[in-house]
Parts: sequence; C-alpha cells; structure tokens
Amino acid sequence: MNQRNAFPDGFLWGGATAANQVEGGYKKGGKGISVSDCAKAHYDTDVTNYKAHNTVTTKDIEEALATDDQVYYPKRHGSEFFHHYKEDIRLFAEMGFKVYRMSIAWSRIFPNGDDKTPNEEGLKFYDNVFDELLKYGIEPLVTMSHYEPPINLVLNYKGWYSRETVGFFLQFVETICNRYKDKVKYWLTFNEVDSIIRHPFTTGALIEDRFPNQNFEEVIFQAMHHQFVASAYATKICHETIPGSLVGCMLTKLTYYPYTCKPEDVLKAQQTMRGTYCYSDTQVFGEYPAYLLSRFKNKGIHIQKEMGDDEIMKAYPVDFVSFSYYNSSCSAEDTSKLSMTPGNTINALKNPHLEASDWGWQIDPTGLRISMVDLYDRYRKPLFIVENGLGAKDEVGEDGAIDDTYRIEYFKEHLKAVSDAITTDGVECLGYTSWGCIDIVSESTKQMSKRYGFIYVDCDDYGNGTYKRLKKKSFDWYQKVIETNGLSL
Ligand code: BG6
Repeated sequence: MNQRNAFPDGFLWGGATAANQVEGGYKKGGKGISVSDCAKAHYDTDVTNYKAHNTVTTKDIEEALATDDQVYYPKRHGSEFFHHYKEDIRLFAEMGFKVYRMSIAWSRIFPNGDDKTPNEEGLKFYDNVFDELLKYGIEPLVTMSHYEPPINLVLNYKGWYSRETVGFFLQFVETICNRYKDKVKYWLTFNEVDSIIRHPFTTGALIEDRFPNQNFEEVIFQAMHHQFVASAYATKICHETIPGSLVGCMLTKLTYYPYTCKPEDVLKAQQTMRGTYCYSDTQVFGEYPAYLLSRFKNKGIHIQKEMGDDEIMKAYPVDFVSFSYYNSSCSAEDTSKLSMTPGNTINALKNPHLEASDWGWQIDPTGLRISMVDLYDRYRKPLFIVENGLGAKDEVGEDGAIDDTYRIEYFKEHLKAVSDAITTDGVECLGYTSWGCIDIVSESTKQMSKRYGFIYVDCDDYGNGTYKRLKKKSFDWYQKVIETNGLSL
C-alpha cells in the first residue's frame, strides 16, 4: 500500500449534481419554469461551439415558453431524479458517499421568484431527499443557486441586474435555511459565480437584447455586484439560522499556463487568471480587489452600490473555497498561428503536451494540484473540490456491463494529484465530490451522451429510454477508493 495516497480522517468523499440537470419533474409538484428549462439543445450544430449554445435572445425564451417539448429542452427531463431519488441515493450509499452535493431549484420553492409564499410541495420534496440522505449518513452540501433563477425574474425584473432580485433571493435563502436548519450544514451560494461573464443568461438571468443602449458588460458587472451582496447576506442568514454551518464560494477553476516562457506570454496568463480570481478574491477578502476596480475605471464601468453593501461584504466573507476543475488551458500574446480547443465554459489555446476528452477538454491532473496550491496559498481557507470528472461516451455491452476504464484512469490520476496537494504541499481540503456522479444532461451541450457518472442512466440525447440505472465499472472502483480512504489508488 502506498501511504502517499492516504487522505485525512473525515475527508468528505462523494459526488455532485445540480437540480437543473438531474431532477426533471418538469412542472411537477408546483415547480415553476427556470432559465435552464428554456435552455435549448442545438443538435444540428457543432457541440464544441460554446458561444452558439449559450447566446440567448428574448425570442428564444418566448419560443421555449410556448412549448412543453422535452426533446429540444432536455433539462426538463434530466435524469428524472425527481422520481428516482430513493434508488439513486441508495446507490450513492452503496458507493460509500459521505457527502452529496446538490442544488435546490429556486423555481421549485418560489415558482416565479417573486411569490409571496413558498410552494409547500417543493419544500417537502427536498425534506424527503435530505431525510433519505441522512438515513444513510450522507451529508448534504447544498448549492443555493446553480443556473436555476425563475424565468419570471428574467422577463419582468431584468434578472440579477435588478436590485429587487437580491430581495427575492434572500427570501428564498431565509426559507430554505429555516426549513432545513436541522438537516443541512454545508452550503454554497452561487455555482461558478465567475461564469456570469461567460454565460450571463444561465448565471445572471440576463439577456442582452433586454438592455438596449446599455453597455452589456456594465450590466453584467452590476448583476455580479448584486450576487456578491446577496452571497454575503446569505452567509449571514446561514450563520445566524444554523449554528456551526459553513458557507463556501464556488469558482470555475480555470487554470492557464503561459504558452511559452516569453515574458509577454507569462503576463498574458497572469492577466487571464486574474479574470477568474477577481471573483473569489472578492468573496474571500470581502472587498473588490484593486485590479478589478482599475479594470472598471479604465473601461468606464460604473457599479451602483447601496448603503451598507461594502460593509456586509466585508462582514460576511466565505468560510471555505470550493471550485470545479476539469481541464487546463494556455495563454499567449500572439495566438494567430496556434490552435484552440474547448474547455469548461471557454475556448482556449491547445496545449501540445496534453491529451483531450472526446469534447476537446484537455486532461491535466497536475493542473489540479497546481490549482489547489495556488488557491490555498492565496486564501489560506479550506478548499472543497466540488466538481471534477470526465465527460465521455459510454457503451453498454450486450450483458449490460459498461467498461469505463478511461474514466477510472482520469479519476485515479486526479485523485493522486489531490493527495499530493494535501500530503506534500500542505493544502487543507475538506472533500471531493465528482461531477455528475450519476449521468445527467450536460450544461454546455445539453447532451445526455456526454456522461460523467459512476451510474449510467438509460436515456439518449432525445430523452428516449427507460431511465433505468446501471452500475459502470467505475462504480466498484470508486467504492473501493472511499472504503480505503484513498489507499487503493
Ligand atoms: C460546470 C457546471 O461548469 O461544469 C456544471 O457547474 C456542468 O453545471 C459542468 O455540468 C460540466 O460541464 P458540461 O458542459 O460538460 O456539462
């Protein structure tokens, strides 16, 4: 046995999903429509063209709201966790999960976002889910907002640009914290809070054509400010309602290397990294970093703040730093002769030293260790890896077996990197939740065939299938990793 790969006692092993990709239960139990219910699959376009999939217009939303179709709106069916949650949680328990990261769909609790009272059926659904998890000793880790704002807030309030949305969100936060105070200790406020700049619709409930004659970048940063303020108030509510609760920020850990050692390439990589760090810097230090303020000034961006905003942000920074990590990328001053490749929510320069997934995301376990060291040295707060995994096409054999050795390899190397970061580099890490521990609908491409799970869901890109659950080869492998607390790696 290799002691190098031991993990700390109490390390929270588990898996992660988000309501908008796993739940289904479209319009069931009083659920309203969220932005993700209006996210259309573009089966006829290049799946690696990130921008095309995330450019949304008011006309797109009107079309989405006029139909109950689930073929072109696959997040409406997800993996039907809504109907299968008991079976799914039993399988998580069988793997030995200590934690399950999930989100509460805002539109299941406040169907329109601005409702005066919460939807009791929605609240009861999550009571049932938490009770089921706790029955097996699985700790819930709950994201308050994972691409799930009610569509009404987009159409009638200008999404997170509107100050009123802060109030609506805090009503939701107070409701769920009060209701689940005895069941949920670990919380995240906004999933990939930095992603608002890359997909303003899903993260910020913003559609560019609703802001004619306005600088849309300024609109996005105003919405971001509202999310920072809301996150600080949410942390306050959590701490006051649930003694001992821990609240984290959640960052897309985009890791950029300089393409060469040319100082200009190094500078470019550093500047690009700051484009991500500015969000976690704000949520950890409780104030905007100077470099973000100069960026606003140089671009003529003005953020409207209300009295008390700076104070609340300063008073309620996050308790820990969580992040997603899938791939690394490169930066260079002159990109004209270099190839690009997609990564999580980005298109970036291809690294000639790395292999890539079927979707072009570059596989880089060492980048995870580098990311952990960077984040821990920068913030000195505990880390939590809440998303990591390989989106791949899986084949079901005639005997029903699914040999996903490639996924096992991916996890093995990444978990060894996590172990090195903890044991060699002295990083404090609370846990690890693999992304899409059960197959779910992809966020970027809306495909079911981009699978991440240890558990296969029998459903194709068009929603056809039995939704039967099957264990993949990686299921037993991960079970062993958890059972041995990483020693089997
Ligand atoms: C993260 C999101 O950006 O990446 C998830 O938080 C998403 O919602 C995950 O599913 C993987 O991306 P994709 O596009 O492969 O689903």
